[in-house]
Amino acid sequence: MNTIDAETLRNWLEADKPVIVLDVRSAADRATWAIPGSLHVDAYSDLKAHNPHALDGITLPADVPVVTVCNSGYTSQIASKQLKARGIEAHSLEGGMQAWSLSWNTADVPLPSSKAQVIQIRRVGKGCLSYLIGSERGAAVIDASLEPEVYLNIARSHGWSITAVLDTHIHADHLSRSRLLAEQSGATVYLPNQERVMYAFTPLRNGSIIKVGEASLMVIQTPGHTTESMCYLLDRQALFTGDTLFLQGVGRPDLHVTKDETRSHAELLHHSLHHHLLLLPARTLVLPGHTNTPTPFDKIPLTASLGDLRNQVELLRLSESEFVDALVARIPPVPPNHARIIELNEAGELIENPTKLEAGANNCGIS
Ligand SMILES: [Fe+2]
Repeated sequence: MNTIDAETLRNWLEADKPVIVLDVRSAADRATWAIPGSLHVDAYSDLKAHNPHALDGITLPADVPVVTVCNSGYTSQIASKQLKARGIEAHSLEGGMQAWSLSWNTADVPLPSSKAQVIQIRRVGKGCLSYLIGSERGAAVIDASLEPEVYLNIARSHGWSITAVLDTHIHADHLSRSRLLAEQSGATVYLPNQERVMYAFTPLRNGSIIKVGEASLMVIQTPGHTTESMCYLLDRQALFTGDTLFLQGVGRPDLHVTKDETRSHAELLHHSLHHHLLLLPARTLVLPGHTNTPTPFDKIPLTASLGDLRNQVELLRLSESEFVDALVARIPPVPPNHARIIELNEAGELIENPTKLEAGANNCGIS
């Protein structure tokens, strides 16, 4: 059976190699997440029933390899066999979308007058965004969501050593890799000051400063998405907003609290946005912790100025009571396994294969 692994497909897409990614899952499964640029044919039940005509409706060029994709890599094998019978070079993605979850790409963030270089590292298989900030020979990582080698290799290729590892808050949608990255790099773990995380870390408070080479990160306390949430301001130019502010909306306020506390957390979020973040200069670049759509391999950073977001994000123009009502009315479905993920992040534990636990739609924001 001709299969390829997720790392090979990632490398092909990164290198812009001609390839057609054919998603054979049901429309409902595809709606949760997809591979950027992939084609879709809703052939899942026909393929499972071994219907030899399952893919008859789709026309594919004979000279471009096809990678078939399903949830965990079995049905896609039936699809690739059928395509091969048609004379098409077809491969099945091993482990399907579950294995793809750990795929990533990068984009440089232009910061002309900062003393630091910022690289946005996008977990394209899930939508988590993390950041590597390098200055002189030092580097910091914010919201590590991928295996430590990803960050260590990129830092090494720039001649940086990772000295600081930070999370913007206790995550509920993915397992934080910050503790493990710190262990492997010798970096200090910085976390918002709170009493939930049980391993050793250096607590951050409003106004704390972390030096990275010649650059500095200033801590801004922004409760709302979670009580401890913080944003980090780099050289007064770039703002790492975690799940407090996204490019299309704001963080959901309900995941770590009871139903009754959701309204008061939405009020806190409104206060954090309007009395802290939106007072910063309009040119400040916002670098969020998530995206809700699969990020192409285009090397274009996902960012916008604070001024543009103020104009484009409707929720940012609402009064406090309108904002609270809108958030409560629009709360999306709770991410699967979030309680277990929070528990593991508080304990600082990783599990053997986290992708199953982390699977599911990316529902961190409200727009
Ligand atoms: Fe979050």
